[in-house]
Amino acid sequence: HALINHIAFLSLGLCLSGCRSLTQLAELPEMHQMLRQTCRDYADRELTPIAAKLDKEHSFPAKQIQELGAMGVLAMEVPDGLGGAGMDYLAYSLAVEEISRGCASTGVVVSVNNSLYIGPILKFGTEEQKKQWITPFTTGEKVGCFALSEPGNGSDAGAASTIARQEGDEWVLNGTKAWITNSWDASATVVFATTDKSLKHKGISAFLIPMPYPGLSLGKKEDKLGIRASSTANIILEDCRIPLGNMLGPRGAGFKIAMQTLDSGRIGIAAQALGIAQAALDCAADYAHKRTAFGAPIGKMQAIQFKLADMALAIESARLLTWKAAILRDAKKPFTKEAAMAKLAASEAATYCSHQSIQILGGMGYVTDMPAERHYRDARITEIYEGTSEIQRLVIANQILKEYQP
Ligand SMILES: Cc1cc2nc3c(=O)[nH]c(=O)nc-3n(C[C@H](O)[C@H](O)[C@H](O)COP(=O)(O)OP(=O)(O)OC[C@H]3O[C@@H](n4cnc5c(N)ncnc54)[C@H](O)[C@@H]3O)c2cc1C
Ligand SMILES: *[C@@H]1O[C@H](CO)[C@@H](O)[C@H](O)[C@H]1NC(C)=O
Ligand SMILES: *[C@@H]1O[C@H](CO)[C@@H](O)[C@H](O)[C@H]1NC(C)=O
Ligand SMILES: *[C@@H]1O[C@H](CO)[C@@H](O)[C@H](O)[C@H]1NC(C)=O
Repeated sequence: HALINHIAFLSLGLCLSGCRSLTQLAELPEMHQMLRQTCRDYADRELTPIAAKLDKEHSFPAKQIQELGAMGVLAMEVPDGLGGAGMDYLAYSLAVEEISRGCASTGVVVSVNNSLYIGPILKFGTEEQKKQWITPFTTGEKVGCFALSEPGNGSDAGAASTIARQEGDEWVLNGTKAWITNSWDASATVVFATTDKSLKHKGISAFLIPMPYPGLSLGKKEDKLGIRASSTANIILEDCRIPLGNMLGPRGAGFKIAMQTLDSGRIGIAAQALGIAQAALDCAADYAHKRTAFGAPIGKMQAIQFKLADMALAIESARLLTWKAAILRDAKKPFTKEAAMAKLAASEAATYCSHQSIQILGGMGYVTDMPAERHYRDARITEIYEGTSEIQRLVIANQILKEYQP
């Protein structure tokens, strides 16, 4: 992780206290600017040119993930001592945005490894679990995944029915987890299962399972609208026996762990959505200069200019919200509402901008010769996973009602 460790080291000198203030929204600290530029250069060089091919062939970007891993980008928040980059969440959100601007599938792989796999282990794991599941577990070529949703319950994750029964010194897990990102490429998973169904969501616990593993199998790879270079599949557990020590956090704390993990994860998805939205704007603004109609570049026409302005406005507002959520998290302040707002604003910006980008490209927007149609397909998932837009609105409203509690 030489490069990013070096940047993190510089940051120590640059901002020991003041750098977590909201002034970061106006101008990023130097270390964050450097990181952003590093990721932007990598995306321009290694991801943008191959994104269409990866999408078409549904192929996992193994080489690129390995390279990003070597840069430290797949374990951004993990302290240096445990083998990570030792950076903060603002840095992470910048990295995911730039990577997603090049390739949204690669963006979600990075986001899941950081927020959904490492996140809960870092926060709730024992020292021993951190050493075992974060540091040496993989060769640096593999990624982790997060298995909460089930075929019968996604938004209502507290209704999960996968069971974990204690037998001697083992947990025995039975059930099916659905839609698991990275599952075909993962070497470990955090799985949520209930140890006592009568307790409803308070009966859910989190478990760590290596992959592959006896009693754990994968369903077919889902054939998706977008983010096609990332794998999504069911994880099927049939009498899957794991040591008692593989429980993550206290018994019954699984739902809390899942919700807190998703609070953070939403910052990563907001960043992914921003990257897609920015790529859509980049493509449209460039085309507006080059394409002529009625004797002038279409960028001279006010109808096109208004579209570009509205796209840029949606992106910049969502970006500030995303940075704010990340900065609050880095300052160890509450950020549930801001993360939900960021995810909602950024995902809606992504679907809006990718829609408008196709419009600006006209016919060329509709074919795979240009990236606009892929941005449109990739954008759509950001309004669905890690909580649909409807669920984000519920989260935001809950927080507001709490603030106004008489
Ligand atoms: C490509 C992809 C990758 C994914 N990756 C993962 C992963 O890695 N790990 C994981 O655990 N899950 C993952 N998911 C699952 C994802 O989080 C769920 O699909 C999502 O939470 C929605 O759940 P659902 O599909 O069951 O929809 P449902 O919950 O059935 O929702 C259907 C509709 O009802 C609405 N709705 C539901 N409840 C309410 C409510 N209370 N108020 C208003 N509207 C409501 C929803 O917003 C939606 O519009 C992934 C999904 C996809 C498609
Ligand atoms: C994903 O995270 C794990 C846990 O920190 C790490 O060991 C692994 O190297 C990461 N993956 C990549 C490709 O860097
Ligand atoms: C949750 O989904 C599973 C199938 O995946 C189903 O068996 C179970 O009944 C659902 N739970 C509730 C409370 O609806
Ligand atoms: C798990 O499912 C298997 C069948 O797949 C069944 O034989 C076994 O009794 C179940 N175990 C538990 C703990 O429910």
